[in-house]
Amino acid sequence: MGSAPPDGDPAPADGALPAAALAAAGERGLGLYVHVPFCAKRCGYCDFNTYTAAELGPPDGPPGASRETYADAAIAELGFARGVLAGTERPFETVFFGGGTPTLLPPDHLVRILRAAEDGFGLAPGVEVTTEANPDSVTPADLEVLREGGFNRISFGMQSSVRHVLRVLDRTHDPEGVPRAVRWAREAGFEQVSLDLIYGTPGESLDDWRRSLDGALACGPDHVSAYALIVEDGTALARRVVRGEVPAPDDDDLADKYVLADETLTAAGLSWYELSNWARDEAARCRHNLLYWRGGDWWGVGPGAHSHVGGVRFWNVRNPRTYAARIAEGVSPAEAREVLDEPTTRTERILLETRLVEGLPVSVLDVPGRDRLPELRQRGLVTEEPDRVVLTRHGRLLADAIVRDLVP
Ligand SMILES: C[S@@+](CC[C@H](N)C(=O)[O-])C[C@H]1O[C@@H](n2cnc3c(N)ncnc32)[C@H](O)[C@@H]1O
Ligand code: SF4
Repeated sequence: MGSAPPDGDPAPADGALPAAALAAAGERGLGLYVHVPFCAKRCGYCDFNTYTAAELGPPDGPPGASRETYADAAIAELGFARGVLAGTERPFETVFFGGGTPTLLPPDHLVRILRAAEDGFGLAPGVEVTTEANPDSVTPADLEVLREGGFNRISFGMQSSVRHVLRVLDRTHDPEGVPRAVRWAREAGFEQVSLDLIYGTPGESLDDWRRSLDGALACGPDHVSAYALIVEDGTALARRVVRGEVPAPDDDDLADKYVLADETLTAAGLSWYELSNWARDEAARCRHNLLYWRGGDWWGVGPGAHSHVGGVRFWNVRNPRTYAARIAEGVSPAEAREVLDEPTTRTERILLETRLVEGLPVSVLDVPGRDRLPELRQRGLVTEEPDRVVLTRHGRLLADAIVRDLVP
């Protein structure tokens, strides 16, 4: 999830990319991620790079470090990106505003950032423009401004329909807030509505989870993401688990809940296309996340945001004040970068593509990896498809172990 970036090489102050990366860029679709690092309250399980007003400190920092001024810093980074990618820039195929809570910014600020992306790079015909939102962070008027400004997909952090589960997760919304927010989004004209769910929260029974799945389906979503709760080091939840106040998620319980999710969502007409993601049809799949999973190119704007261009991965400084100060000085916000060599690229392809419904081409595996396939097929963990590694439902439950087995 929101874990710390790996160590890399220091990134140059001007953000310039190696010529080979620029030469390799331009062949594939380009995505844009805009990170909005603000939340009203930190949920006890979350270690994403996000800050409450109290955590940000007094509003005396450089412009761009506060909610009020953040859009200008993000727009300045887009101008910077245009310079770095000069000659290879192309219209964005997908744009994704994530967080944090993007909808804590006034909606016209989000639209202003989108306009700057369009002015600088262009938006491809049929561009997918998503924002994440907390169910209690939007009003009908906000949603109308976003929709009119070009956003066409919204992903609500629903997590659960059950009050006591939302309480353990420290969520600020009530179960009733989700269907209301979805209705407002539809009324505003959003074509694509997605709901994020979490299963395995301490105290959540299988019946509670069934109620959450049913509650999500009753909203008529086009897309559902269902994530097993991860107890991230350093979070309030991890401290509660260590103190013995709440139990850690149990693997068997998580497996039962995954199977229930897959059965329930499939029966309602949503099919899995990535281990934790189900969509009504192909058009409802999240194209932005597919771009990540298929090793595409994207620029990530904002504190802690990661980018990948032509085989080079780079990531920005995490602290909003440091980020804003760099932007104000005209220095690249990128802190470090990593040139991905062939073995790393291949390992990442195995890790990511094995999780997709179309699976991984067998040709990507080395000989020992291919030699493991007959046994995986015999155990019913991968399908009989000869040229691709496609996980069965049973295999999806053991995806991490299977992938570990396949990487060189
Ligand atoms: C980082 S949030 C950003 C969107 C929005 N602030 C929200 O919470 O809905 C995106 C999603 O990540 C998931 N998430 C965050 N931390 C998680 C964890 N420790 N375990 C499982 N899922 C997590 C939640 O489902 C959440 O909806
Ligand atoms: S609202 Fe979303 S991003 Fe913010 S702390 Fe909670 S899970 Fe994390």
